Order: sequence, then C-alpha cells, then structure tokens
Amino acid sequence: MDTQLHNRRFLRSVEAILGTALVCPKIEIPAPSEWAKSALGFAPDAKQAAVLDHDARRLILCCARQWGKTTIIGIKALHAAVFHPGTQVAIISKSLKQAGILIGRVCQSAAILGYPRKRVRGHEHSLELPNGSRIFGIANSEGAIRGYTIDIVIVDEAAQIADDVIGAASPTLGRTNGKLWLLSTPNGQTGLFFNVWHDAQLTGWFKMKATIEDAPYASPAFIEEQKRLFPYKFRQEYYCEFTPVKGRLLNHERVNQMLDPDIAYVPFPRLSQETL
Ligand SMILES: Nc1ncnc2c1ncn2[C@@H]1O[C@H](COP(=O)(O)OP(=O)(O)OP(=O)(O)O)[C@@H](O)[C@H]1O
Ligand SMILES: [Mg+2]
Repeated sequence: MDTQLHNRRFLRSVEAILGTALVCPKIEIPAPSEWAKSALGFAPDAKQAAVLDHDARRLILCCARQWGKTTIIGIKALHAAVFHPGTQVAIISKSLKQAGILIGRVCQSAAILGYPRKRVRGHEHSLELPNGSRIFGIANSEGAIRGYTIDIVIVDEAAQIADDVIGAASPTLGRTNGKLWLLSTPNGQTGLFFNVWHDAQLTGWFKMKATIEDAPYASPAFIEEQKRLFPYKFRQEYYCEFTPVKGRLLNHERVNQMLDPDIAYVPFPRLSQETL
C-alpha cells in the first residue's frame, strides 16, 4: 500500500473515532470558599475566604488564637483531596493527638459530603477518600516523615515545631512540587515560623495575618478580661506579636540594633591540618 493511501485511511479512521467518541464532561472545580458555603454550610469571613481561595504553593498564616486556622486549613485540604484524586496530605502538629484535631475537622466535613469514614492503613488519625486521596497525621519527629512522597505538608502550630522536623518534611515535596502550609500563632522570636514571616526576600509565599480585630468573635468584655489576666501573653495570642520568650536577655529588635551593616562578613576560620 502506498504511503498516501495509508495516511488517507488512517485520517478517515481517526475522523470516525472522533465522530463517535463521547465528549467527557468537563468537571468544574468550585472555588474553595464557595464550596465551603454551598457544600459544607460553612461561611468564611473575608480573610478566611482569601486563604481558602489562594493557590499558593507556600502559605503562612500568622493568626490569633481561635481565628479558625485549623478549621480553614482542614477545609482547604479536603477541597484539594476531593477535587484532585490521589492527593497525599500529611499533617504535622505538636503531637499526633493535636494533628488529630485537624483531621477530626476534615472528617466532620467529609461526613457532611457523605464520604464513608475510612482510615489510611497504619495511621490512626487519617482519612482515605474513595478517589485515593489520603490525609494523615504524622508524629512530630524528624524520622516519622522520611520515606513519604507528599503533595501537601501542613504544619499546624508551626511556631512550636522544631525546625529540624519541618526540614525533614520539606524534601517529601520535592518530586511533586508540592505545597507547604504553615499555620500558627506566634511563639517567640526564633525558628522557621518567625524567620519565614519576617523574611521579605522569600518570594512566592502567601502571608496572611489576622488579629482579634479582624474577626471580632469574642465579646469586648472577654477581650478586656484576657488583657487584664494575661497582659504578656495577650499581645501574642490575640495581636500576633512576636514577643520574646520570657527570660531572654535580649529581644530580636535589640540584637538587630547592635548589628553594624558596615562590617564586612568575616568567615569563621577553617581549621586545616596546618593550623592544628
Ligand atoms: N467563619 C466561621 N464561622 C463560624 N465559626 C467559625 C468560623 N471560623 C472559625 N470558627 C469556629 O471557631 C472555633 C475556633 O476555630 P479553630 O480551632 O479552627 O481556630 P484556631 O485558630 O485553630 O484556634 P487555636 O489557635 O486555639 O488552635 C471553632 O469552633 C470553629 O468552628
Ligand atoms: Mg488550631
């Protein structure tokens, strides 16, 4: 058979297949904030909606106590899991029990959607969806996260998690170009959460701050009482101030004031065989 005839026949058969093929319906993925309202009956406020709808690969929430960090990130994680089959989400918190609180919120929402309660094998605090997506808690230790390949790593109470643990979790995102979401109320002036929040040169991070004034969920009387009872903690817990940890001799601002930018960087002398 000559090549031209062969090509004509091939094209005719492709046309025939295209003519009879069923058109796959395009699945419209709803915006997470709209989906939260319509599917879960949860009405986010403006800042919560912005966090839900932003598709940042890197997200840091520096928000007041009880603002809704755990709830919002739980909804965001479930949205990803439902609409992107096979999504693997790992949650690290101060303890597995604490990670279980976030997963508990996820399970409540999943139950509203009618998903069966199925755990991921080997993970007490977890949810596996019929589409293969998995959300599971990981112990707060460097060793626990090794070996996984993850799409979304969530660090709840991130200011209280050791940098080395987050450092061990980050490589699990390397192959998937996955997402890292840090959420916390401040806790001192050191650590990754503090550094990321203050590093203006870190690009690609979606940063959201929300104080008690952004979401006046507590009565003025409650706020006044908290201020009186816990004057030191109050600024941190409700106004998201990175106050120095009690007992520290110098705070971050003081140390910065003492640095002289005109002094060139002097590398630490390397110990070589000759100097020993
Ligand atoms: N938009 C909202 N509408 C109604 N309730 C909300 C909203 N956002 C949060 N909540 C409620 O506020 C409470 C605190 O939420 P959540 O535990 O998520 O806050 P958090 O910031 O993680 O608190 P914490 O700092 O104590 O861990 C929960 O009962 C949650 O259901
Ligand atoms: Mg929380």
